[in-house]
Amino acid sequence: MIQPALDLVIAALEKIRETTDRGPCASRNTLEQLQSGPSLAASLREAHVSRTGRQLHQTTSNKAQILASVRERVRGCTKCAHLASSRTQTVFGVGNPDAEIMFIGEAPGADEDQQGEPFVGRAGQLLTRIIKAMGFAREDVYIANILKCRPDMPAGSFGNRAPTPAEMQMCRPYLLEQIDIIQPKVLVALGAVAVEGLLGARGTMRELRGRWHLYNGTPLMITYHPAYLLRNQSPSEKRKVWEDMLQVLERLEKPISEKQRNYFL
Ligand code: URA
Repeated sequence: MIQPALDLVIAALEKIRETTDRGPCASRNTLEQLQSGPSLAASLREAHVSRTGRQLHQTTSNKAQILASVRERVRGCTKCAHLASSRTQTVFGVGNPDAEIMFIGEAPGADEDQQGEPFVGRAGQLLTRIIKAMGFAREDVYIANILKCRPDMPAGSFGNRAPTPAEMQMCRPYLLEQIDIIQPKVLVALGAVAVEGLLGARGTMRELRGRWHLYNGTPLMITYHPAYLLRNQSPSEKRKVWEDMLQVLERLEKPISEKQRNYFL
């Protein structure tokens, strides 16, 4: 009775989500919760029915549960057949389901593909240092990528390639679900490719970074990708990233020590 109707609604919402930049008003997770019958009452009890206008506020345990269900869907995703067949595993995201800050990178590299966790290679180690210098542990924040699969490379070649616009468009709905569930206070996009994946438009870092943008109502800070800082060791570029992070701390109304103010990455 109600099930076929819900299936139709979900299919229609997925289509909207995949083909337009503006997401539908209910997240798929909320619908999944509604679909799950016996757990419906429990979910609604756990969910604060205070509305942001777009979705329900979820409790931390509820968020973890819903994230886990999205992770499962991502694990079985074959929307990009070439990536599904080349990946070792999907790389969903890591961190606190209730994080205030969500860092968004572009795509897993070779290390992340092996370990199943974003930002664990050299660029990831630098990101972890930045997070610590901000006064957080890696577990306090949430880290995800636009793409959940490593972009495939020709056989025998080394290194990583940037995701294509088509791959990012295909995968973006998963990231939007992650953002909808976590509802971070601040998003930090790392590098121009992440910005393109998120906003669907390319811009230069010079014009984009260092100032606040809004992403579906959530403040978005754009800064350089840590891999850029590894390639370009100039203190002035590193300082720019740190200044962007100071703006994030200010926005979150975190105390900033003198040492942090003077910090150079
Ligand atoms: N670069 C990214 O953008 N993401 C990762 O997970 C690792 C490196």
